[in-house]
Amino acid sequence: MEAPHSRATDAAPARNSRNSRNSRTSAVRSVESPDAMRDLGRSLAALLRPGDLVMLTGELGAGKTTLTRGLGEGLGVRGAVTSPTFVIARVHPSLVGGPALVHVDAYRLGGGLDEMEDLDLDVSLPDSVVVVEWGDGKVEELSDDRLHVVIERAVGGETAVESEDDDRRSVRFTGYGARWAAADWSRLEALTR
Ligand SMILES: Nc1ncnc2c1ncn2[C@@H]1O[C@H](COP(=O)(O)OP(=O)(O)OP(=O)(O)O)[C@@H](O)[C@H]1O
Ligand SMILES: [Mg+2]
Repeated sequence: MEAPHSRATDAAPARNSRNSRNSRTSAVRSVESPDAMRDLGRSLAALLRPGDLVMLTGELGAGKTTLTRGLGEGLGVRGAVTSPTFVIARVHPSLVGGPALVHVDAYRLGGGLDEMEDLDLDVSLPDSVVVVEWGDGKVEELSDDRLHVVIERAVGGETAVESEDDDRRSVRFTGYGARWAAADWSRLEALTR
């Protein structure tokens, strides 16, 4: 039987976003539980608007989908955000007259945007909040304006098993492009406290 978080293919290596120019990074926030991650997603939703691209980086089971679930709740969209097995992208229309949430899991995509052409992400982006898991090195072309969210397991357990069982995660936000240069970072900083 497959381990709960094993995946069939290898993901592209994450780019080191910290070395990029024109970016702004928040402090690291510690998130103690799945519920707290969901709450963080709800709070983050209030800072997002149509046209925003959010890229989620973190290992298998880091909590990317859990954060997105909260985002969907905060945005007031239809349908529960789940971890899609075969579906690469799911559109959750707004129930409150706001932007739709487009939730993309790019794990199985080897290539970049050209492989996702059918999804028309460029068409839906202006009216939606697009959240991409495993999109590093694949979807940056979509927009110069991106919010990268990096989720890491807190390292503290004596053994690998202990850190696997540890619910603590650290979350860091990095904004790229004019949208995030102009954003009110005190509100993002507030999320990391
Ligand atoms: N602090 C935490 N934040 C988020 N999830 C947590 C936390 N602590 C434990 N968990 C658990 O870790 C798992 C996270 O699963 P989730 O599907 O959100 O991860 P993911 O990053 O989307 O993984 P994948 O790369 O497989 O899509 C859930 O089982 C959740 O209950
Ligand atoms: Mg996921």
